[in-house]
Amino acid sequence: MKTRFFLLATLLYICQAASAAVPSLSLIPLPEHMEQCDGTSSFAKKFTIRLDSKASAEVEAVVSRFSHEFCTATAMDVQRTKKSSATMTLSLDAALASEAYTLEVAGGKVRISAAQPAGFFYALQTFKQLFPRSVMAGQPCTDIKTVWTVPDVRISDAPRFAWRGFMLDEGRHFYGKEAIKRVLDLMSVYKMNRFHWHLTEDQGWRVEIKKYPRLTEVGAWRNSKVLGWGDVKPDGQRYGGFYTHEDVKEIVAYAAARFIEIVPEVDIPGHSQAAVAAYPEFLACDPEQPHEVWLWQGVSADVINVAEPRAVQFACDVIDELAALFPFGYIHLGGDECPTDKWERNALCQARLKEIGSEKYRDLQIDFYHKLQQHIARQPLEKQRKLIFWNEVLHGNTQPLGKDIAIMAWIGADGAARDAAGRGFNTILSPQIPYYINRRQSPLATEPRSQGHGTETVEAVYNYVPAKDVPADLQAKYLGVQANFWTEWVEDAATVEYLMMPRLAAVAEAGWTPQPRRSYPDFLNRLQGEAELYELMGVSYGKHVFE
Ligand code: ACM
Repeated sequence: MKTRFFLLATLLYICQAASAAVPSLSLIPLPEHMEQCDGTSSFAKKFTIRLDSKASAEVEAVVSRFSHEFCTATAMDVQRTKKSSATMTLSLDAALASEAYTLEVAGGKVRISAAQPAGFFYALQTFKQLFPRSVMAGQPCTDIKTVWTVPDVRISDAPRFAWRGFMLDEGRHFYGKEAIKRVLDLMSVYKMNRFHWHLTEDQGWRVEIKKYPRLTEVGAWRNSKVLGWGDVKPDGQRYGGFYTHEDVKEIVAYAAARFIEIVPEVDIPGHSQAAVAAYPEFLACDPEQPHEVWLWQGVSADVINVAEPRAVQFACDVIDELAALFPFGYIHLGGDECPTDKWERNALCQARLKEIGSEKYRDLQIDFYHKLQQHIARQPLEKQRKLIFWNEVLHGNTQPLGKDIAIMAWIGADGAARDAAGRGFNTILSPQIPYYINRRQSPLATEPRSQGHGTETVEAVYNYVPAKDVPADLQAKYLGVQANFWTEWVEDAATVEYLMMPRLAAVAEAGWTPQPRRSYPDFLNRLQGEAELYELMGVSYGKHVFE
């Protein structure tokens, strides 16, 4: 009798503790279809997983990683089983799209289906979001008696856009591997899948290229940490850094495990003063002049001499090494803000312009890219990459580049994207206003120094409507959305995080959730609990939107 009473009391206590701990359902990004059921499901001590016997090794890897992390975060004994009584069943459903999944939690059981590894990964990310934030944060739990109670749900989900990106500029400031991994962690929380790594600038070259060692011996270092602007003068401090091939491989593997493709960017022929300083003898338009890695903000006029054959060979060699390092679909060649002044005074450039039958110096830039594209086309298939450019390339005669390139629209983004799509190019929306999330996120005096006046708030970022009023026949050209982060003023990784978060979550939802389901008040409500996640992850974030 005593034992029965004790058991009953214990059960009551567990149930009360469990019901007190039921987390609210606040998923970001909001799934395409979601139904919250009346009940809850509780998990304790043992959690068994049954995976479809036809699952690929890649799906197997996704599930193994989840099992390990889930075991650490819940202290449950997570085991694989072949029994149909498993707590979690993962099934292949070939009819689903590549990133789509279904997730059902009911009666203490979890059922997941997907067609591809990414779908399973996203289902498991959503599943973790049903739990207290400590689970997504990967915070170890040591209490094996913990009962985990989550709301019962039925979700059928797929992203609106294939491209859900974030760009970080490390040309201006170098943050290092651990900072990049934290960025990738945050992206994966919100199911973002493209990390655009802006690796070169006037102010620094950040990736080792074995064939051109001076790019990092010279180009990765400058004589000031701060970048001069207005009253701010260069400080004379030796500053810099770069990623070796080994570092890149480590980051590529880390990203791939989170279904994030890395899009490396070498911004050429403009924004290239660091490269010019490393190899002025064939990259400079005026090699007889002194060239140094730039110490200032703004746009340098010291661009690559696009009509010099050795500069073309240089760019081809860099592309070859990037293609070997980054096993993904795209390489970004920049193309923004490239002054033509030096070309206009250079004999080789003048002669080449005549040869191509143009009077517009911008066409020399396209001619340069065309040669690089022809070089890529001569490579074995596995080394070929598609090219992406900033939307300024639309100001040249893009005809030689064919239709296979993608245009990243930033300045006058909606119009530029529409122009690109109309010309048959794929396009990605990364509007400067409001998707440059390095800009101040509030007018508060406590905001760190950065560009803007604080008008790119969480609300403004959230309320941008991608591909608004785009005709149906052009919509397929819109690959998706991307937030960009420029770092002229941002010298440390904590400030990057502070400005990124929580605006990254707002962009992620624009990329994932169908427009009619998006609402800022609802998002703000769901966002509130994320402060706890950022605290647990040790991530800095803008606090003013949290109550
Ligand atoms: C850019 O913001 N210059 C692409």
